[in-house]
Amino acid sequence: MLKKCLFPAAGYGTRFLPATKAMPKEMLPIVNKPLIQYGVEEALEAGMDRIAIVTGRGKRAIEDHFDISYELEHQIRGTDKEERLADIRRLIDECTFSYTRQLEMRGLGHAILTGETLIGREPFGVLLADDLCEGEDHGVLKQMARLYEQYHCSIVAVEEVPETEVHKYGVIRGDRLEPGIHRVRDMVEKPAREQAPSNLAIIGRYILTPDIFDILRKTPPGKGDEVQITDALLEQAKAGNVIAYQFRGQRFDCGSVGGFVEATQHFHAQMDD
Ligand code: UTP
Repeated sequence: MLKKCLFPAAGYGTRFLPATKAMPKEMLPIVNKPLIQYGVEEALEAGMDRIAIVTGRGKRAIEDHFDISYELEHQIRGTDKEERLADIRRLIDECTFSYTRQLEMRGLGHAILTGETLIGREPFGVLLADDLCEGEDHGVLKQMARLYEQYHCSIVAVEEVPETEVHKYGVIRGDRLEPGIHRVRDMVEKPAREQAPSNLAIIGRYILTPDIFDILRKTPPGKGDEVQITDALLEQAKAGNVIAYQFRGQRFDCGSVGGFVEATQHFHAQMDD
């Protein structure tokens, strides 16, 4: 059973400046709910109730969000506004939250390694909250947790992207095992279009086995002078230990302004205000 989910949330969010100058990107709301709350809901649905968050400077709002606000709750008790806090209260009651700080932003791989202290030696989920996913039947992380029961190795969520977009992602080459499931043979971080091994791009959902920490410790900075999780995963992949999973559902790249607007429209259309 996977119990822990790691949320790397220390990045600067430069694509959203100036909004992210003093506010964490993960707290940007899609309609009235912060991105990271959607993420924690998805983790909980997958059975992962130990939430481990890697934060950095200027990210305190995340900790406050997953805490009780006595004054506010006292003020609105007994009014129709109380209902608006019901979802976040449930998360606070059902999950435990722990935090560690990444002191220098040295890339996603380094952020995941920073989380080792919260995870220990067990397999775990990783969720990048700025990739907001709506699963078709179940959430994407739950779909992946089920697959983990079958394969017992690291799993990356992938989706087909247009060739013009491959340079933004880690891209895999794999052998198809079942429809939508591939054994990863190679992966390249942000390849040029002509160097991309396929159009299957890794998105912000992973299940990782804990040996990834040992690999990350030895992984030198790669593309962009950052420690890349793709480079560490490639070592597992060479031993046949990484599965790529084409999830059922829809992803919104809320780290970009276009994806953020699209998600806002999509989730607003589902609300009855
Ligand atoms: P991004 O590549 O989206 O970077 O990181 P970013 O800083 O958040 O955003 P931009 O590109 O400047 O607009 C992917 C994920 O990895 C985390 C981010 O918080 C995000 O969830 N991350 C990245 C870290 O936690 N630490 C890092 O050093 C880098």
